[in-house]
Amino acid sequence: MQQTQCSRRSAADAVQQTLADVEQTAPCNPAPTERASSVISYATYKILHLFGLFMMFTALGGASVHAASGGERSASSRRIVGILHGVGATLSLVAGFGVLARLDLTAGLPGWVLAKLALWLIVVGLIVLPYRSKSAATAMAYALPVLGLIGAYLAIGKPF
Ligand code: HEM
Repeated sequence: MQQTQCSRRSAADAVQQTLADVEQTAPCNPAPTERASSVISYATYKILHLFGLFMMFTALGGASVHAASGGERSASSRRIVGILHGVGATLSLVAGFGVLARLDLTAGLPGWVLAKLALWLIVVGLIVLPYRSKSAATAMAYALPVLGLIGAYLAIGKPF
């Protein structure tokens, strides 16, 4: 009876110690902090962030493929691209900061977030390009997925 209780206690201590070790050595992938008062959750902010990005990339992708295949800018294409790009850019940025708040990363912005902000500025600025020249529009159509990939890598890999 005494023996088993001792081995159970030492096993529990060992688990405790491992947990403490893990917490100390866990990579800095901050777990989202959901406070009871959080109106919008981490997951909702991230979904809104992605939704904004999908809108923005649809606008830029559509305009670049349209221009690359000889399309002329018209009032209707200008409106669709303008709305999707404007709403998408705003939503992806605001929700991006929302996710940051849920990750408790608002104190000092880590390198990967600064890089994403620079990437966002580049992607938003691409709107001026498509109807400049067919070659610019073609290059942009191929570059957009790569820029999205870089954004995903920065968010998931947090390399710096
Ligand atoms: C064009 C620019 C951007 C692209 C393509 C992009 C892409 C992404 C993607 C694909 C994810 C989801 C990753 C996952 O599944 O965990 C993500 C998450 C995230 N993004 Fe962005 N993003 C961009 C701009 C921004 C900006 C400007 C901010 C900051 C204001 C930001 C902050 C975040 C944060 C905090 C996360 C969550 C990371 C986590 O869950 O650990 N992103 N982004």
